[in-house]
Amino acid sequence: MDKKSIIAGNWKMNKTPAEGKRFISDVKNIVKDVQLTEIIFFPAYTGLLGTQLNYPFHLGAQNCHWKKSGAFTGEVSIEMLNECKVEYILVGHSERRQFFNETDGIINKKIRSIKSSNLKPILCIGETIEDRNSGLTEDFLERQLVRGLEGINSIENFVIAYEPIWAIGTGVTANEEQIYNAHSFLKSLLKKLYPNTNNCPILYGGSVNTKNAKELIQISGVDGFLIGGASLDLESFISIIKDVENFGR
Ligand code: PGA
Repeated sequence: MDKKSIIAGNWKMNKTPAEGKRFISDVKNIVKDVQLTEIIFFPAYTGLLGTQLNYPFHLGAQNCHWKKSGAFTGEVSIEMLNECKVEYILVGHSERRQFFNETDGIINKKIRSIKSSNLKPILCIGETIEDRNSGLTEDFLERQLVRGLEGINSIENFVIAYEPIWAIGTGVTANEEQIYNAHSFLKSLLKKLYPNTNNCPILYGGSVNTKNAKELIQISGVDGFLIGGASLDLESFISIIKDVENFGR
């Protein structure tokens, strides 16, 4: 079994370090026999230090700065994250783009810096409702992907997350056809840009919950989920892990 599903729980600005550690330990105690799924927790920076995880559990950071060090008040470097045993870093989440003015250029700088470390980026992309309604979804996704990956010659160990902005935190999930089309489009675009990389996982994100996870994981091209709201609740998160694990690969 070479290919595993990925479940990434993005806690955003939720859970104190103690709450996060308790949550992770509860998840680990309940899901002991996971074979086909990798689970990544994304606490806030403060929850990273001292959170030691073993396979199939991994630690991720929600953001990073692209410089090694320097006068950047409030920022955190990749080296600092590395020392906290972080393996994955989210880059370009729509909330970073929207509330913190992250442009494709900034996102590309972060991607390049992560690439030159031993950490793995999860590049988030997704269209606005206006772009979708104007039939511009693919143009939008292509632009974000190409600009985000500019200058990157191999996407070994990269993960892409397709998160339509209109589906994040809204309770509205993209439908099966929309997800299938977006993932197929991105897979063939990646194949064109990186002919030698045959397996870059693409996660779906946007109001994944206990009611829809079972169906969504069956969509061809969906390699796992990036989950916000439902990753904060123990029962919901466990239920999604079980659905994904039972689906297999
Ligand atoms: P949501 O968030 O699951 O609450 O829609 C997804 C995300 O922001 O990654």
